[in-house]
Amino acid sequence: LVHEVVEWLSPAFSSGGVVVDCTVGGGGHAAALLEAAPGVRLVGIDRDDEALEASGRRLGEFGGRVRLLKANFAELGSVIDGDDAGAVEGVFYDLGVSSPQLDRAHRGFRYRGDAPLDMRMDVSGDLTAADVVNGYSEAELARVIATYGEERFARRIAGAIVARRAQRRFEGTEDLAEVVKGAVPAAARRSGPHPARRTFQAIRIEVNDEIENLERSLPEALRVLRPGGRVAAISYHSLEDRAVKRFFASEARGCRCPRDLPVCVCGRKASMRGLTRKAVRPSDEEKRRNPRSDSARLRVAAKLEPPGPEAA
Ligand SMILES: C[S@@+](CC[C@H](N)C(=O)[O-])C[C@H]1O[C@@H](n2cnc3c(N)ncnc32)[C@H](O)[C@@H]1O
Repeated sequence: LVHEVVEWLSPAFSSGGVVVDCTVGGGGHAAALLEAAPGVRLVGIDRDDEALEASGRRLGEFGGRVRLLKANFAELGSVIDGDDAGAVEGVFYDLGVSSPQLDRAHRGFRYRGDAPLDMRMDVSGDLTAADVVNGYSEAELARVIATYGEERFARRIAGAIVARRAQRRFEGTEDLAEVVKGAVPAAARRSGPHPARRTFQAIRIEVNDEIENLERSLPEALRVLRPGGRVAAISYHSLEDRAVKRFFASEARGCRCPRDLPVCVCGRKASMRGLTRKAVRPSDEEKRRNPRSDSARLRVAAKLEPPGPEAA
């Protein structure tokens, strides 16, 4: 959705403006935005040191137009300072895990091959996948796997993990993948993706607190944007997409009064306008080229001018 992101964000840009890429990763979207808008500067955030090294190399050609920072996008407000404050015209998220994170076996995101159970995007973070798998109660594991993995066999899988770790701690990804596979009924193992895929996704989302960070970041994005500026978010998980959709809808509605009140008493005005009525999906051609894009959904909203005194 690189082309679509550029199309939806560029109309908000003016010379001297700033776009914040909250998930700069390898810098692919960032490079496309910088190329499309030569007067714009970019602040690129990532919580992964390896991603920042990769984007540093990729975006080197743009020189002083780029500032890269290691941060969690939940802290977006506090990383925008100095010249950038007041100049932000676009905020962009390309959520979830990156291909290099998945491909580098040592990061422990993969269910194929063996690696330590890590899965931290920020390797200085406290919680690892091994802590979740070896430390969470059976009920907590079942909740995580059901909610973030949308896995219908979550309780069976949680039961099998707890039974196995009573004998021996989980250390590696291969070990976990085998136990999960063994817990899934044989009929369900025969078709579809690897039986451990959903459980690995769920543990990754838990380890990195992905949904909570997004929910904390979106109001910050709205706060740092100039009126007329735009937020664009690509989600790959239904809970991410729901968080984005609900935030945009609630800011576009403004009023928070119970629906049965005849008049508004809260006085809150709309602060955003949704620009994509339905989520934008990748083209068939893009899905063929990049199968991971299959679940991608892009939503975009614009920040409105604050109401004048007569409207307030
Ligand atoms: C899908 S990749 C982005 C790829 C990027 N758009 C590109 O073109 O290369 C997502 C990136 O977001 C980062 N990330 C995820 N959650 C984050 C958070 N809360 N704060 C900062 N970075 C985060 C990940 O480390 C990963 O590098």
